[in-house]
Parts: sequence; C-alpha cells; structure tokens
Amino acid sequence: MKILLTGGAGYIGSHTYVELTKQGHEAVIVDNFSNSSPVVLNRLETITGKSVRCYRADVCNRQELLPVFQENSFDAVIHFAGYKAVGESVHLPGKYYRNNLDSTLTLTELMAEFGVKRIVFSSSATVYSLFGEAPFSEDMTTGCTNPYGWTKYMNEQILRDLAAADPDWSVVLLRYFNPVGAHESGLIGEDPVGIPNNLMPYISEVASGKLKELSVYGSDYPTRDGTGLRDYIHVMDLASGHEKACTYAFAHTGCEVFNLGTGTGYTVLEMVKAFEKMNGIPVPYKITDRRPGDIASCYADCAKAEKILHWRAEKNLDDMCRDTWHWQKNNPYGYQE
Ligand code: NAD
Ligand code: WQD
Repeated sequence: MKILLTGGAGYIGSHTYVELTKQGHEAVIVDNFSNSSPVVLNRLETITGKSVRCYRADVCNRQELLPVFQENSFDAVIHFAGYKAVGESVHLPGKYYRNNLDSTLTLTELMAEFGVKRIVFSSSATVYSLFGEAPFSEDMTTGCTNPYGWTKYMNEQILRDLAAADPDWSVVLLRYFNPVGAHESGLIGEDPVGIPNNLMPYISEVASGKLKELSVYGSDYPTRDGTGLRDYIHVMDLASGHEKACTYAFAHTGCEVFNLGTGTGYTVLEMVKAFEKMNGIPVPYKITDRRPGDIASCYADCAKAEKILHWRAEKNLDDMCRDTWHWQKNNPYGYQE
C-alpha cells in the first residue's frame, strides 16, 4: 500500500514509518515540523536504507497540502498531525481546536476530492477520562477533561459522521494508551520540547542528570502503592498496530474504533523501579500533590484489537525501559545536532 503519514516526522509517526517500510509499504510523510525536527528524516533513511519522501507542509493549509495529493496516489492516510500537550491546551484552547480540527477537515476534504477514502486516526485513551473505570473498552461512554482531549473526541465524531454519510469511506479510530520507548536502533525516539510533561521522558531525563528529580504526582490513589496507574505501550507495538489498521481499512468500509494498549497497568513507582533495575541507574524522586485532571487508573481492554485486527502488544516493560534509555543515552539533546 502507498500510505500518507501526516505528522510522520513526530514520535509515533516516525516509528510507524519504519514499521510500514519494513512490511513492504510505501510511506510518504507530510509535516510542518512544528513539534519535530527534519533530522529525523536522515535517521529514517539510516534505519530503512531507503530515501524518505517528505513534504514540508501545514495540513491545515489546503494550498500547501494540494501538491501532496496531486503528485501521489495513496491507498490510505494515517493522520498523526496535531498538537498534544494537555497542559498547554488548557491555557491555549484556540490553538488546539484550530490546529487539531482544521487539519482533519482540510485533509479529509482533499482526500474525498482525490478519491482517497481510507483514514486511520490517532485518537487517545484520554477520551475515557471523564467517566467509567478501567479496564476501558471501546463501547464505554466517552468524555474529556481538557481541550486537547475534546479535540480527539470531536475528531472522532467528524470522522464517524464522514463514514456514515458516504459508505465508501473506511475510518479506523485508534485510541492509544501511554506510548513509551523507542526504536531498538536508538536513532529515533521521543524528543519533547523543554521540560517533559509525560512520565517516561521525565524519568529518562532525571536518569541522565538533565533534571534533578522526578515529582511523583500523588501517593493516595486507590492503586497498589497509591501512585497513578497507566497502560504503557512500546511505540514499536503501537507502530505495528497502525500497519494492521491499514490492512483492516483496505478490506472494510465503515467506522471502527480500537484501543491500542497492553491491557496491563503499572504505577508510577513501579515504572521508576523497573527503569532503575533494567538500566542500573538511580532515579531520585519525591512525592508531591496530585496533578489536576489525573485519574487513578487507566488501562485498556484490548480484546477487540486482538480479535478483529489480529494485533497484540509483544514488548514488555523491560523492553520499554531499555529502549527509552538507549535513545536518551545516545541522544541527550534529542535531534539537536
Ligand atoms: P508529535 O508531536 O511527536 O508528532 C506530531 C507531528 O505532527 C509533529 O511532527 C508535528 O510537527 C506535526 N504537526 C502538528 N501539526 C501539524 C500541522 N498542522 N501540519 C503538519 N504537521 C503538523 O506527537 P506524537 O506523540 O507522535 O503523537 C502523534 C498523534 O498521536 C497526535 O495526534 C497525538 O495527539 C496522538 N496521541 C499521542 C499520544 C502520546 O502520548 N504521544 C497519546 C495518544 C494520542
Ligand atoms: C502518567 C502517570 C501521572 C509525570 C497523557 C495525556 C494523554 C495521552 C498520554 C495524548 C500519571 C504520573 C507524570 C510526572 C508523575 N497523550 N506522572 N510525574 O497523564 O496518563 O496521559 O499522555 O493523547 O492524553 O493526558 O500520562 O505520562 O503524563 O502520566 O507522577 O512528572 O505518571 O500523574 O499517573 P497520562 P503521563
């Protein structure tokens, strides 16, 4: 298949690029590098041994996106492009609604014009954060606690409506749990701008000495040790889930939603201990107040993806800790050369 990856230079997109290429697909990237670096393209060439086709364009901008469709004939699109910082979205909601919704509208309008009617969308387990209790299954009620989450919720609805209006569309909504880790080469990985918001990059920057200590947000949750519990999934497992989703979209029309997680949760302190043990490096931490908006436990019911996509996460917590550190150690300043 020939597959367009919007936001393909980002963390999940770049790993998915590697997996798609490995499986014999032809992947093309469009990215405006608002949260990524063109250096990733050289790294992708090194890993795959092939030249990378990438357009520098804003997916919200029809004129910039048009040549991408004029010059290629795609079988499917994976739509990763979007902003993802929860905290920033609370302070700058307009920035998030504008980019995350406009990108989907502009993209799907062009897709329809060019007869490309298969889309795999990056949604998030954050759509489960208002109601219910883990394990979360796809049929549970959704609702969000922050603008970022609402953009995922609204994008899901836009794409669902598209599939309902035109039976030729195939829409696959993927709700990722907590992506971590990096490609085993250590050449690509997560490269947060400034101080990381997410746990795993924070742990690895503390381990490397860039940050002094981890703040553990709350120790009074109803979990095994009182700290928050999440379903961490290796980014290469996530990448293979996208390959399966494209294969599914190729064979089916309509709209389906799938969780991509492992089905197993680990607490913050379990993550710290696992990282220390796997890599032999101490991760100093202190317990602080809860972070507003956090829930106690979030992990997936993965039965649907296993049954219908024939996909299951294969990598374990040690793989996640080892590969995160391999990337961090080799690239202490991320893609900055
Ligand atoms: P990322 O920021 O690393 O990648 C997103 C990419 O999209 C970046 O390269 C950025 O430059 C690009 N981009 C943003 N707006 C664009 C635009 N208008 N035009 C062109 N390119 C644009 O993020 P990621 O972690 O790889 O996440 C990918 C997708 O998955 C996002 O939609 C995110 O919301 C979603 N998601 C991420 C997580 C996570 O924890 N990483 C969890 C659930 C869902
Ligand atoms: C994990 C656990 C924290 C940092 C977020 C988004 C979600 C999705 C994935 C995009 C929690 C604790 C964290 C720290 C800590 N992204 N923690 N100290 O909150 O589950 O999900 O990323 O869609 O939308 O909300 O992930 O990595 O921020 O936190 O104690 O410095 O680690 O309280 O229990 P989260 P996270």
